[in-house]
Amino acid sequence: MNKKVCEGTTIYYADEGKGDSVIVLLHGFCGSSAYWDDVIPLLSTHYRCIVPDLRGHGQSDAPKGAYSMEEMADDVLNLLMELDIPQASLFGHSMGGYVALSAVQRHPERFHAFGLIHSTAHEDTEEGKEKRLKAVSTIETEGITAFVDGMVPGLFAPQHLETMADKVIKAKEIGYATPPQGAAGAALAMRERPDRRDVLTATPLPVLLVAGEHDQVVPAARTFTADKSNIQQSIISGAGHMSMMEAPQELAKVIKGFLEGLAG
Ligand code: MLT
Repeated sequence: MNKKVCEGTTIYYADEGKGDSVIVLLHGFCGSSAYWDDVIPLLSTHYRCIVPDLRGHGQSDAPKGAYSMEEMADDVLNLLMELDIPQASLFGHSMGGYVALSAVQRHPERFHAFGLIHSTAHEDTEEGKEKRLKAVSTIETEGITAFVDGMVPGLFAPQHLETMADKVIKAKEIGYATPPQGAAGAALAMRERPDRRDVLTATPLPVLLVAGEHDQVVPAARTFTADKSNIQQSIISGAGHMSMMEAPQELAKVIKGFLEGLAG
């Protein structure tokens, strides 16, 4: 892993592949850049892949207190600036998609295209906002391990809990390494994020929306909120919320096809 100090925040990142075409892959809540381990080798043959640990996650700084999607997005924008990358294509998994929407809304000129992978432009429901507070309380009282043990099984398609037990363990181990204050800070950031469906309807940029057939966290209807000629909707059959681990070949194929379509 590499690291850069971005406006005072240390951000770790993987930097794989060469070339002028840069793609940035953002992980979800209690994940890290390692969520993308199976996808990076499939994409780095064609693209330079920048894959950060978002603030509060992996090895990156995890300041105390509530975060915001804007701060998390600014870390990514600052990292790209530090790396002299003026424009990239940005793909965010779940929470990473919320971060991507904040970045694209405020700095569309920095992106060729963007994608939401098992994510949504909706804000949290009232029930969802309550669950964020419960999550923070569980993290603080029972610890990150108990919280992650409760969360991770719901991320996978039910049939994969047995058939992909090694991947479930890997997702848990990545989650256990999340600094508790980072997980709490990010949960509060997700709770406060606004509805950004208007970003999808208004953007002229090419957009990729990916849903998992068996996603129990973000159902396809919450991902596919906009239907326009610049928006590609794709379903990964058999996958839950974690296609980068459950179906890396299929996800990489969808991302590559989307990017090749832009070039043509
Ligand atoms: C994630 O995977 O990032 C989370 O499930 C997103 C969320 O809880 O909204």
